[in-house]
Amino acid sequence: MSAPILFALGEHQEFARRLAVRLDAEFGALEVRRFPDGETYLRYRTPCEGRAAILVCTLDRPDEKFAPLIFAAEAARNLGAAAVGLVSPYLAYMRQDRRFETGEAVTSTYFARAISTVFDWLVTVDPHLHRHASLNEIYTIPTRTAHAAPLIADWVKTEVDRPIFIGPDAESAQWVGAVADGAGAPCVVLEKLRRGDREVEISVPNIGRWLDSTPVLVDDVISTGRTMIETIGRLVRAGMRGPVCIAVHGVFAGSAYRDLLAAGASRVATTNTIPHESNRIDVCELISGAVGAVLAEISGPRDR
Ligand code: R5P
Repeated sequence: MSAPILFALGEHQEFARRLAVRLDAEFGALEVRRFPDGETYLRYRTPCEGRAAILVCTLDRPDEKFAPLIFAAEAARNLGAAAVGLVSPYLAYMRQDRRFETGEAVTSTYFARAISTVFDWLVTVDPHLHRHASLNEIYTIPTRTAHAAPLIADWVKTEVDRPIFIGPDAESAQWVGAVADGAGAPCVVLEKLRRGDREVEISVPNIGRWLDSTPVLVDDVISTGRTMIETIGRLVRAGMRGPVCIAVHGVFAGSAYRDLLAAGASRVATTNTIPHESNRIDVCELISGAVGAVLAEISGPRDR
């Protein structure tokens, strides 16, 4: 088969271009625009017939991206692509992973089913796996998960003096633990009680022995920022300095980024899974390794 061809949807164009170079793939032109009535128009300006097509689309604010993404995958297949893969550096709809209240939609499962129907494989970075142990529980296509922890650990090693890593809740333990191990620094995991979309309570154990260290909060996602803001307040009241706040994925709903800085974060750093001014850690090479591995595994289109 000839070299893969990569197309970008949304604002990740520059990232996708660099990814194409790393993969020795062609960077194809895909026109996506909206009709006046809000429907999607889509046209492949570079042919993908007979090629392994890779669509790059990070899925923050997923609802507005979902229809164009599904159409792009269907169109690529319809135009004769040999296989159609998705690189989604941030994978959406991972948090509603069970029915918490009667009648709720378990969107992580439905979203996974929809993606698995139109794509042949999926690569992402640190999806929010909490009650699902792996993506394979909900995705029925081959998946590869790249882990940003070693890159975050390297960044902290060069940028932060005497770090003490802090995970704001039990779910963050997997990410903060891996980063702390990589950086060879201590780690404390706090307890969080979420009372609503924007209401969380954090309890902090005795951290008196770490007052001379630089607190580094690590989580997979910053969305409303409430988890980190609440944690900052607790730490500062306990006598710590303003922490460095790090997330793999900076979703930053509304004014979350400004709120975080205003709450006393000394720095905010994210990976570039979602383009944002806080991006400090580049995951392009990491993703290219995962895509290379999945392409090696996929030799042709799946039976449907
Ligand atoms: C939840 O378990 C995640 O790991 C994050 O802690 C959470 O998504 C952060 O959300 P927010 O910024 O809205 O508090």
